[in-house]
Amino acid sequence: MARQQDLTELAKRRGFFFGSNEAYGGTAGFYTFGPEGAALKRNVEAAWREEFTHRLGNEEIEAPTVMPEPVFEASGHLDGFDDMLIECAECGESHRADHLIEDAVADIEDAEALGVDTVEELIGDHDLTCPTCGTALADEPVEDFNLMFETSIGPGSGQPGYLRPETAQGIFVEFPRLKEYARGQLPFGVTQIGPAYRNEISPRRGIVRVREFTQAELEQFIDPEEDEPPLDDVEDVEVTLYPATEQNADDGDYIETTIGDAVEKEIIESPWVAYFLGVAQGWYEAVGVDMDRFRFRQHLSGERAHYAADCWDAESEVGAAGTAARSASGDEEEPRAEGNWIEIAGFAYRGDYDLQKHGEHSEDRFTVFKRYDEDRTVERATVDPDMSALGPAFGDAAGDVADALETLAEEDPDAFDSDEVTVEVGGEKHTVDTDVANFAIEEQTEAGEHITPHVVEPSFGVGRTVYTLLDHGYSEDTVDTETRTYLSLDPEIAPTDVAVFPLVSNEDELLAVADGVADALRDAGLAVTYDESGSIGRRYRRQDEVGTPFCVTVDQDGLEGDDETSVTLRERDSAAQIRLPVDEVVGELDALLAGERGVRRHSRDVPHCRHRRDDRMNRRQPWQPGWATPRS
Ligand code: GAP
Repeated sequence: MARQQDLTELAKRRGFFFGSNEAYGGTAGFYTFGPEGAALKRNVEAAWREEFTHRLGNEEIEAPTVMPEPVFEASGHLDGFDDMLIECAECGESHRADHLIEDAVADIEDAEALGVDTVEELIGDHDLTCPTCGTALADEPVEDFNLMFETSIGPGSGQPGYLRPETAQGIFVEFPRLKEYARGQLPFGVTQIGPAYRNEISPRRGIVRVREFTQAELEQFIDPEEDEPPLDDVEDVEVTLYPATEQNADDGDYIETTIGDAVEKEIIESPWVAYFLGVAQGWYEAVGVDMDRFRFRQHLSGERAHYAADCWDAESEVGAAGTAARSASGDEEEPRAEGNWIEIAGFAYRGDYDLQKHGEHSEDRFTVFKRYDEDRTVERATVDPDMSALGPAFGDAAGDVADALETLAEEDPDAFDSDEVTVEVGGEKHTVDTDVANFAIEEQTEAGEHITPHVVEPSFGVGRTVYTLLDHGYSEDTVDTETRTYLSLDPEIAPTDVAVFPLVSNEDELLAVADGVADALRDAGLAVTYDESGSIGRRYRRQDEVGTPFCVTVDQDGLEGDDETSVTLRERDSAAQIRLPVDEVVGELDALLAGERGVRRHSRDVPHCRHRRDDRMNRRQPWQPGWATPRS
């Protein structure tokens, strides 16, 4: 808890994130990313886009965040996107009823799966009380609470609409156009990064559970019978898996394996899901998530969303001091550091659920035409109703009767075996002479068929990724007998690349050189902070706390030597420093940062994560030994 408080205070103090609307008392569940946080979040989004849109060859779209009610009737969110709510009659506070059970009852990990009635009973059986005021909750009802924010589109009573609870629906409803853009060829993937909204019952843990958050989602459309993922790219990636079977077993534990092995042994059923777990593991490690505090956990059956046939979450352990040993069982020989596991991404096999539903509820076609290798000759049952007989017999309903006969011929040709055939229109039964229907079995040549693609969905929470990176980067050490806090952020996502300081602010020559260095670094495309206020020690601490990987200091010594002007370059994590000619600063920093980023880019081609860690250590080697002992 202390760790979480320290991080939250740092986030507030240094402008990463803070509660929104504080001038008006604050609004629970809404957070503002300050200058450092917004830059960090943008960098995470850019890194995600680079990997999941560009490198994987997908297309990105930007759909509206408000969508009309029929979208969510079709998607199932109106009916099924609920959490369990219990309200305290004394203080009026709302709580997630299932979370109260999970917190209080040791052997229940997934109370949501138990259903409202059982949870209500358990609250009584365990004499649970309101966490806010301590009043007994036994007599309070537990209700399903829909998490969508409702709105009205247009003036007056308008058209009912909702803020999207997942960016995915913006992709699904545009499928008819997107498939044209993909020239009707499966597989193809569409990504979107943007806000999603959920009226969470009890938002908590800072930006971890909020009511407005950013998702980065990829919807991969596949032909389940034909399309296979490029598993070779990730088969050697080492992963820590926590399948449902292990979670349910008394002595269940993690399975340390490779993606290839997990597919072969069917630990992960869908090769597509496995493929994305492999890609995601590589990406998370590249942006700086500590792999010792990272796992993939499969959803238990009662935990899955209404659309998911299978789902694995990427989870990170936050709030743990130091490095956690890897054991789910809490085995004495492998004690785990205390921390909380949070879901940072979900990898769902959504099957044809979404496209099927939108196809049923809308006028459009949510299928693709799958061409056969060769034309096929098939027998088809057809009707050609005699309207001159149907008209007088059924009046206005004649057209509907004809349509119903056509449908019946496709679905049950045997129904036309007798002299009469009966169809139902608008709840009423109509009997027609089979001769009038003109039923026939015809041979037809078909070039292909319309199929509904399946969807595999990696869905990332950007805010939770940011939180994890801050938590895993949060470090403390002692420099010059002083304790310091620094964020060991990967240079690719750090808000600022380099800070430039003139040692003192009252020397014109010093200021001019520092200004020049800052300008040159900006011209080289780096994100630069210039700071001339406070002692140099305080300025270093400030940059350490926002994770700036390098600082350049211009001092009098550097201007006075016989040789060319020199400056000091300091690295964040080691606090080691070197002196180098001012003309070499841009080149040196460019090389250092490009080296950091370059190794990662290169290693992405072969995302074998544990190996990459060694690469990262190695690439520090060339510049560390030459650096002076840590100073301030
Ligand atoms: N389209 C699938 C989907 O929305 P999800 O598991 O509900 O799946 C995906 O959400 C990710 O969005 C989660 O893994 C999490 O990182 C993030 N997320 C979900 N609810 C959130 C909330 N209330 N606050 C912050 N992030 C959230």
